[in-house]
Amino acid sequence: MAKNSLEKFIERVRQIWGPLTSEVAAGCCQQLEELVQAPSTEEWLAALHRDAPAYNELYRDPAHGFVLLAHTEHTGLYRPPHDHGRGWVIYAIQQGEIEMGTYARIEAPDGSVKLVKRDSTLVRPGQVHVYLPGDIHDTRCISGPALLFRFTERDLQKEDKEERRVTRYVERDGGWTLGAP
Ligand SMILES: [Fe+2]
Repeated sequence: MAKNSLEKFIERVRQIWGPLTSEVAAGCCQQLEELVQAPSTEEWLAALHRDAPAYNELYRDPAHGFVLLAHTEHTGLYRPPHDHGRGWVIYAIQQGEIEMGTYARIEAPDGSVKLVKRDSTLVRPGQVHVYLPGDIHDTRCISGPALLFRFTERDLQKEDKEERRVTRYVERDGGWTLGAP
């Protein structure tokens, strides 16, 4: 039986997989760019459009540990600045538009932390965006319902809840800073 776009994506990512390098990141980006072009007649994609799940794990690799998630986001959904610990992540937009901002973490001599916004990009259907380990970013759905694929190098829930390496920032006095530990 002919493979669908999701199966081809998995097969190709497994072929190029290895420790993070520019080539591995670029190769995964390329595969995601192809994945978001999949015809919506393919059943797995039709189901995502029909059911519009907020969170859906499409694939988890038993050997390498990478995970592919799908998220449906409504207009206005905002995810405040955070990093992904040791993990790297690629976001790919299949439908809708999401604004993605990046930040630098600046520490004052007294040890206080604030974020400074570097830039913001409107990511449209067919486009992908990479966040390397430690990159701090936020996302806001500008035009929904958006269908976002989130390809993560490792299980980020584990990185967050068990390893406690994910950092989230909170708004205080008009800026972003560290929340209570
Ligand atoms: Fe993120």
